[in-house]
Amino acid sequence: MNRDEPSTRTTASDDSSDARVVVTTTHMSNGPDAIARLPDGRVAFVFGAAPDETVEVRILSDHGSYVRAHVTSILEPAADRRDPPCRHARDGVCGGCPWQHLTDARQHAEKEALIRREAARHLPGVTVHPILTPLPPFGYRRRARFGHRDGRVGYRTRGTHSLFAIEQCPILHPDLEAALPSVRLAVRNRPSGNVDAMLFPDGRVRVGDEAAPFAQPSADAEAALVALVLAALPERPVRVVELFAGAGTFTVPMLTRGHRVDAYEGDRATVARLRDTAPKARAFQVNLLKADRGPTDLLHFGDADCVVLDPPRAGALPCIDAIARTGAQTVIYVSCDPMTLFRDLKGLTAAGYDVESVQPVDAFPQTPHVETVAVCRRRVATLQG
Ligand SMILES: C[S@@+](CC[C@H](N)C(=O)[O-])C[C@H]1O[C@@H](n2cnc3c(N)ncnc32)[C@H](O)[C@@H]1O
Repeated sequence: MNRDEPSTRTTASDDSSDARVVVTTTHMSNGPDAIARLPDGRVAFVFGAAPDETVEVRILSDHGSYVRAHVTSILEPAADRRDPPCRHARDGVCGGCPWQHLTDARQHAEKEALIRREAARHLPGVTVHPILTPLPPFGYRRRARFGHRDGRVGYRTRGTHSLFAIEQCPILHPDLEAALPSVRLAVRNRPSGNVDAMLFPDGRVRVGDEAAPFAQPSADAEAALVALVLAALPERPVRVVELFAGAGTFTVPMLTRGHRVDAYEGDRATVARLRDTAPKARAFQVNLLKADRGPTDLLHFGDADCVVLDPPRAGALPCIDAIARTGAQTVIYVSCDPMTLFRDLKGLTAAGYDVESVQPVDAFPQTPHVETVAVCRRRVATLQG
């Protein structure tokens, strides 16, 4: 069977607003849902389904070329389905871990398959390495943002703004999860809102302004990404332009290796932190994604041997030409969004780079999110004729 054309059959229902359809899913989307096709060929994004299973679904919204649906009954469960270990995911209340009903191995396979599909679509022939899985499946988050109201601490109910109080959150590091009573205590007299909490390397949990909202959520993921970036840089000291530098996750290890770093970051408070954590870098506060940049206002980063960038989900399209103008031999692109990554890699290809390798990393188990590190090298010009 073609994996993109699953077998389907409809159940009798006169009431289209409550129409039930039976579909067979094929794979996970890049979000919480599994993908299936309706009998009329349209794509259905099915919440609560696993890949390769037959489910009855209710259509929640019709968007013309596709529909959104959720599972009402599992008819033939996937071999890779499991009971979500967290009670809030099991209840379907929490939207934070929408892949918990898949085995960890299937989550890895789906994330790698997503990157391979996108690579084949945009850059056929490019090397995609098997996904790295450096994190334990649970207990990996060292920081979290909680909602709070009237002393209750929790997360937003899936698809709403209303808060539900949490009793557990097994993706948190056990020491951070154990600190939930202190978080409740810290916010008990505060007006409702959000509060950050973070487990620091010294074992202490800090709550509120003392938590560092800019740090990577998992120390193991950070170590894996830093290792990939360092491995793609030359051993000898080189000039690096770093874009979207944050508070120095990559800046500090690059400086430690002897590289010279010019770091660009848009958020004022983050630049201040960066200057504290990486005083040897030259740090610039620049809006790298400004939409209405005119010819007199073009981005210029100076000459560089390498460019390292780690943009937000929006990607870095407005930076591509300026990256090429640095003359860098190597561009290392760390991405949390495969869609904008491959769009931008196509841009870099057009600007004179070859994509040497693409490395997915599962930095967020139980969620659809995946980090990817792509290494590009400047194309060697060949003489014609
Ligand atoms: C994915 S984070 C990476 C941060 C850092 N590399 C790290 O690992 O902590 C993206 C960074 O881009 C910055 N950013 C977002 N929009 C920006 C913009 N328009 N111009 C410059 N920086 C921006 C954010 O403040 C954030 O620090």
